[in-house]
Amino acid sequence: MSDDVHLSGGGTSVVVDLDGPPAVRYWGPALGADPPEGLFEHALPVGDLDQLAPVALLPEASLGFPGPPGLAGSRLDGTDWTARLRLHAHRVEETSLSLALVDPVADLEATITLDLDPSGVLSLRAQVTNGGSEPYALANLSMSLPLSEHADEVLTLGGRWANEFRVDRHPWRQGCLVVENRRGRTSHDHLPFIAVGGTGFSEDAGQVWAAHLGWSGNATLRVDRTSDGRRFLQAGELLLPGEVVLEPGGAYRSPRLYAACSDTGLNGIRRSFHGFLRGRPSHPTTPRPVLLNTWEAVYFDHDLETLTALADRAAEVGVERFVLDDGWFHGRRSDSAGLGDWWVDDQVWPDGLGPLISQVRQRGMEFGLWVEPEMVNPDSDLYRAHPEWVLSDHRYEPVLGRRQLVLDLARPDVSEYLFEHLDRLLATHEVAFVKWDMNRDLVHATHEGRAGVHRQTLAVYGLIDRLRSAHPGVEIESCASGGGRADYGILKRTDRVWTSDCNDALDRVGIQYGAGILLPPELMGAHIGGPRSHTTGRTHRLDLRATVALFGHLGVEWNLLDASAEELEDLSRAIAVHKQHRALLRDGRAVVLDHGDPAVSANGVIAPDRSEGLFAVVQLASSDALPVAPLQLPGLDPDTHYRVELITLGRSPLGMAYQHPSWINEGIELTGRMLAAAGVPLPVMLPESARLIHVKALDA
Ligand code: GLA
Repeated sequence: MSDDVHLSGGGTSVVVDLDGPPAVRYWGPALGADPPEGLFEHALPVGDLDQLAPVALLPEASLGFPGPPGLAGSRLDGTDWTARLRLHAHRVEETSLSLALVDPVADLEATITLDLDPSGVLSLRAQVTNGGSEPYALANLSMSLPLSEHADEVLTLGGRWANEFRVDRHPWRQGCLVVENRRGRTSHDHLPFIAVGGTGFSEDAGQVWAAHLGWSGNATLRVDRTSDGRRFLQAGELLLPGEVVLEPGGAYRSPRLYAACSDTGLNGIRRSFHGFLRGRPSHPTTPRPVLLNTWEAVYFDHDLETLTALADRAAEVGVERFVLDDGWFHGRRSDSAGLGDWWVDDQVWPDGLGPLISQVRQRGMEFGLWVEPEMVNPDSDLYRAHPEWVLSDHRYEPVLGRRQLVLDLARPDVSEYLFEHLDRLLATHEVAFVKWDMNRDLVHATHEGRAGVHRQTLAVYGLIDRLRSAHPGVEIESCASGGGRADYGILKRTDRVWTSDCNDALDRVGIQYGAGILLPPELMGAHIGGPRSHTTGRTHRLDLRATVALFGHLGVEWNLLDASAEELEDLSRAIAVHKQHRALLRDGRAVVLDHGDPAVSANGVIAPDRSEGLFAVVQLASSDALPVAPLQLPGLDPDTHYRVELITLGRSPLGMAYQHPSWINEGIELTGRMLAAAGVPLPVMLPESARLIHVKALDA
């Protein structure tokens, strides 16, 4: 073990070799003991350099590392274009390791920290400092981790607006795979996430390694393989040309890379990532209030009478937080004007928002408000007064997105303006929740003549942090046209993610499946939409809409003034069922169940003491055989006896059958072992329908 440091925790081992450029030699399931010297030696094949360049935390081109170097940059005259950083100090504290490195030739210094959380998540961060007397233009600072040589299947998350977090899996034998985002926000299409595993890893079985960059700007993640078979993962911020130039003594700090491994398939990855977020001191601990969001109910059509009537209905069905979406501020009658003018529109709200807020409060609900602070419409008082506040290269015509432009938040006057207006709004209104939206990409983002995505991202964080400390009781939701900004950087300062603008329950199954790899249910906004989805035009019954939304931070996004008495009654019941189980959803272990039928999706949550579980089974489409195979429910206590019951939300019928399994009416008592091994027989279900299965220990 000479120069190795072995960090162990959360079922994970990380072995760092400090001899030479610091390198993680092993990252995987716990080894149980310090590994002997030689365990991670790699044969040196003919046809390569005389010495293998290690997959260092910051791999070095100067040693012949064949992939991208961890640190790239140069002086302005092109010198010092590669570095050779050597350890000059290190500190181990329980499960953390800090490394200080120096290259006295190139006059560069670096630090790297590795923290192994009790959840098993390894978080890493690097910093480079210019120790020389000339500026240093940084091109890249990315950290690398080794991957098992058996990891030959890759999984990424992507998609588009209203269909984000889609999982893509394929074999990975050779070459590299890069996930690169240049949109200036986390994006719908290239989430800073990548996972690899042994071929065919499933929800509950197989080894998996996953990494996520906690950053809301540009990012690059890559899995690569050297010709000698070593596989590795590399991730960091994607820096634009000239974006970071370090003056003498100047430093750049990378975003954090979060990495988790599992030998129990994707469920092990979920367990680690969710456990990590839940361990944060800022993680919401109160029951997640059921909310109603007004967007799909009224869009920009605001008036006190209608919204008060909607609040009445909301309170009647059990909503606890009423969120007024876009359309309340100066000049905002459509999405083409008003952004930037953050005061209440006196045409639509002649007496301000006070009357609505007091109606909402009188009905026992909290009030929430939508904002999109980073943006400005050319048709706004703000833009007319300060066109120079736009984040663009003013020598060119800027590119519009949703008829809006981005403000340059790295300008102190811009951030100050936004802070003042938002602070005033929160100080003068009883607002418990802010939906913070961000509806377009950054394009040609130029701050003081230079690429400015990095500074913009930090400035957004700074503004949110400042507002949070001024208003610590206000919860913030991260929204970017749905799930376009869902990452652990923004989640450090927010309490919920608006997962998608798509409330179509069928599409939501896939969207929430992907989002749920990183996000526990209590952070994932999931709304029961109206019967007809606004984004897909499809119609679904309440059983599907409510069952799918129940496994998140529940909301309603439906014009309840159009709902029938029967629909309202069913909605109330669905909300009541959610409330009954929301502590379980917040504290329990979220799992996805392996069911061989591609037309069936099943997921659930299991109490930490395994005394209870709640599962959803969704018949997505028609199956080849009916009934489908029994649903095996692993993860409960094998020797405990459980009462198993079927719960139907809404009133939709089951599929046509002469006979369904009797337990669906009477319930059944089964041991955890039986539930895992034999599973529960399922009734014949209609396509696009869903049921809940509740499992509770008899003595609980
Ligand atoms: C974005 C959000 C929606 C809604 C609208 C309002 O699209 O994702 O939920 O808030 O903006 O303009």
